[in-house]
Amino acid sequence: HEHHPLIFVLFGATGDLAKRKLFPALYSLHKERLLPERFAVVGVARGENTDEGFRSDVLSAVETYARFDVKDQQDWDAFKNRFYYYPLDVKSHEGYTGLKALLERLDHRYQIPGNRIFFLAMAPEFFGTIASNLKKTGFTSTQGWKRLIIEKPFGHDLLSAQQLNQQISEAFAEDEIYRIDHYLGKEMVQNIEVIRFANTLFESVWNNRYIDNIQITSSETVGVEERAAYYEKSGALRDMVQNHMLQMVMMMAMEPPSRLKTEAIRDEKVKVLRSLRRYTPEEVREHVVRGQYTAGRIKGQAVPGYREEPGVDPNSATETFVAAKLYIDNFRWAGVPFYIRTGKRMAQKSTEIVVQFKEMPINLYFNRERTLGPNLLVIRIHPVEGMHLMLNVKRPGTEGGIIPVAMDFCQNCAEGTPEAYERLLYDAMHGDSTFFTRWDEVSLAWKFVDAISAAWETSTSDLAHYTAGTWGPEEANQLLRKDGFHWWPVS
Ligand code: BG6
Repeated sequence: HEHHPLIFVLFGATGDLAKRKLFPALYSLHKERLLPERFAVVGVARGENTDEGFRSDVLSAVETYARFDVKDQQDWDAFKNRFYYYPLDVKSHEGYTGLKALLERLDHRYQIPGNRIFFLAMAPEFFGTIASNLKKTGFTSTQGWKRLIIEKPFGHDLLSAQQLNQQISEAFAEDEIYRIDHYLGKEMVQNIEVIRFANTLFESVWNNRYIDNIQITSSETVGVEERAAYYEKSGALRDMVQNHMLQMVMMMAMEPPSRLKTEAIRDEKVKVLRSLRRYTPEEVREHVVRGQYTAGRIKGQAVPGYREEPGVDPNSATETFVAAKLYIDNFRWAGVPFYIRTGKRMAQKSTEIVVQFKEMPINLYFNRERTLGPNLLVIRIHPVEGMHLMLNVKRPGTEGGIIPVAMDFCQNCAEGTPEAYERLLYDAMHGDSTFFTRWDEVSLAWKFVDAISAAWETSTSDLAHYTAGTWGPEEANQLLRKDGFHWWPVS
């Protein structure tokens, strides 16, 4: 890849995402020599600050969260001197002219031909205003290319997502819009494609003839943290299922793309969502479990229940846990349940996918339990990145018997791997939107989710409770038990 000169304009430069993820990711790219030579960052936020003040904020963020230490002063100076600060109230369109003039001065200083990335690390209610102010002030009609990166949530439901999309589409074309789903930047999520499409061994059995079910877990130990205002209205369904969980389903279920080209891959992913069975209210009650945590213990520490968290309604019916059984009604997957579960305040922080293969037609061998365990392919996304395959082998010795063994591959055991945002920022700088979500994906995902939230709105009697620090409500286990399966414990 050639390194394109560009200015990275970061709206929300004093926010949490900038500190925790974006500055550290930019610094890693710098350390890996993956940033363009002709490059500048302009941080935009409401408060007053100077360039130097902003640079020292960047330093403390990098020191706290980055993968690489800041050791060499000269190297750090070379990095930080590219950061500039511009105070702006994004709602009033006056300030934008000054910002535009700053970008033009920087174009000149770094010989940048007007290329821009606008990263909106802000609440989505500002996206429309910012996009239209950028357009009005002439930011979107410069010589170079322009790209818009936006964070989730992309709307609250299909309708609000459509309105949001409408607003940003007035200033940016679809191929200039990069919608982030940071799960798509995770190394092992990207690896799903390679594992599937570069191995005869897996691709030939990747269907309803050989696979019994697929389980996708993304569990967290944190609670709602300081985000009650957002989370109360969102809940786990909108916060995790609409985006991250469905993205993993798509990666597991998609057909091989005709070529490894952005639109070819996205086309195949969208087809999965088109085949995803959309539930009636009765089916929602049968196939979807929602839960909310009550007080419990996480790693020995007592933690409050969701309804006791600051900013949460004491009668809140917001779900902090979702488990669901999904069906993809196409030739490859007909009849294979995809079980997903995600929640806050669960027993362990882990993201993992288990593919459970069908049993042998006849069982010639027995272990102590007189059963033969199925082959499992376990794809580990977080915190361990890797995968293992569970196989049955002979127990050594004369008594015989069968034992399961794991063929194990660990990708990040020896050293750290890039953070999701490193890859995503790099791709956006190079105009590669493969691992960003396209509008039709977003809207189909909302259609699926909206059917569930609509059913939930009619009554909250099915809201189950689970103790913080556990694997969720008992109902989530029953969901699989009805089908003769169980959740494989997270490794
Ligand atoms: C975010 C959600 O999109 O993903 C958070 O808004 C959640 O609620 C986070 O904690 C989980 O991401 P990760 O990478 O830690 O699994």
